[in-house]
Amino acid sequence: MDDRNLALELVRVTEAAAIASARSMGQGDPTYSDQMAVSAMRAAFDTMHINGTVVIGEGERDEAPMLYIGEEVGRRAERDPKMDIALDPLEGTNLCAYGRPGALAVIAMAPHGCFLNAPDIYMKKIAAGPEARGVIELDASPQENLHRLAEVRGVRVEDLTAMVLDRPRHEALIAAIRQAGARIRLIEDGDVDAAIATCRAESGIDIMFGIGGAPEGVLAAAALQCLGGEIQGRLMFYKDEERQRARRIMGDRDIEALMGIHDLAHGEIVYAATGVTSGSILRGVRFFAGGCETHSLVMRSKSGTVRAIEATHDFRRKPAYTLEGLHENMADCGKPIC
Ligand code: FBP
Repeated sequence: MDDRNLALELVRVTEAAAIASARSMGQGDPTYSDQMAVSAMRAAFDTMHINGTVVIGEGERDEAPMLYIGEEVGRRAERDPKMDIALDPLEGTNLCAYGRPGALAVIAMAPHGCFLNAPDIYMKKIAAGPEARGVIELDASPQENLHRLAEVRGVRVEDLTAMVLDRPRHEALIAAIRQAGARIRLIEDGDVDAAIATCRAESGIDIMFGIGGAPEGVLAAAALQCLGGEIQGRLMFYKDEERQRARRIMGDRDIEALMGIHDLAHGEIVYAATGVTSGSILRGVRFFAGGCETHSLVMRSKSGTVRAIEATHDFRRKPAYTLEGLHENMADCGKPIC
């Protein structure tokens, strides 16, 4: 099967995770939200015509019951293509659990070896749209990067909007952006959404700065390869144990190195993201009598085509998407029915 069809198969998997987790929106239980997303995504993978291996997932094998790093997913028939999978069934778990904007279900897929095997630690990142390639630099100051981006865009720094995770560790970064004169949108979670937003004019976001998860850095890079954007990152180590983990996972790669977009994700990438709660690029799941609507982006790095897919799901014909069906699926996976 060629990757055009795989892209459409992939979005069915992110839709399943988004519908399941959206059921838990605002319930105030992040574990439940995550379990709903993970078990629905895991089940949906079984129908995909791939020999998939999870390389960015829910954690190491002993930490996660499903979608752990190294888990094999897909129908796995002999002729199915071998693919590496980077995923987050619910990016922004707390956003969904507390009914805030910007939660997504995301999956990136590429041939073996195309994604950085990123340890689950922090990464300093900078991301922006296509004009920023060869212009912004992670090691330059926020003021310098804003001036360079404004110049290449032909706007004033005051016209740019930066998206930053609202964390105490970003106090100096936020002060520097304010001093440069740019506008800021602080977010509670979800820097994959933020990175993608820099490439979508409708979001009003021009640049993303800050320290977030390293696995999210790989997911963001995969999306930006499809969208033509720019991202750079460097792993951040706060404990010795994190350094050891990075060395174990990354083999002979330089764990301190500045990583460009190609180091984070390259090759022929297929990407799908479905909104769980409405954010800057995607609308969240909307339920109505007998069904629901989802909003997704599906993209391929080879063609650069970005498809926005609005889907209507009929629960009479897809009983697995009803609350009862989703709980049954969770029970089948040996997970508690919350
Ligand atoms: P989860 O979906 O795993 O909760 O991640 C949300 C997130 O905000 C990411 O988007 C971001 O990269 C990371 O957490 C930031 O980590 P922290 O919350 O520890 O600052």
